[in-house]
Amino acid sequence: MGFEPKIQGIACNWCTYTGADLAGTTRLKYPQNLRLVRVMCSSRINPSFIFRAFQLGADGVLVGGCHPGDCHYTSGNFRARRRWMLFRDLLDVLGFDLRRFECAWISAAEGAKFAKTITELTERLNALGPYREMRELAEAREAV
Ligand code: FES
Repeated sequence: MGFEPKIQGIACNWCTYTGADLAGTTRLKYPQNLRLVRVMCSSRINPSFIFRAFQLGADGVLVGGCHPGDCHYTSGNFRARRRWMLFRDLLDVLGFDLRRFECAWISAAEGAKFAKTITELTERLNALGPYREMRELAEAREAV
């Protein structure tokens, strides 16, 4: 059996999560590699959630929220965007493979964009293969 990447998604309830729901209800085809966690706003996504996902063996992480200006809490996604920009640099400094981390603004009406984002991320992760360093770390944690 071939490699199937594990993707951890963390998405805003009002946009990306609803976009994922729309992709499902309109029966769009996309890979089933994603496990999606819902938060009320992208500003709720603490960088430690992303570290934790990689630490527990995710091959890729997707974070998603409302388009800038569309946040249901006015400016949450602007805060999230600033945090992600800093966080990307931190991941880079710490030696994480940034090709495995994706941020996307996907609205509730963009089921097709959600499907396309997941498809492209899955293809990219398939080409990269398993995130061995993180899987070894996860296995070492389980052995303790
Ligand atoms: Fe969606 Fe804030 S409510 S990003």
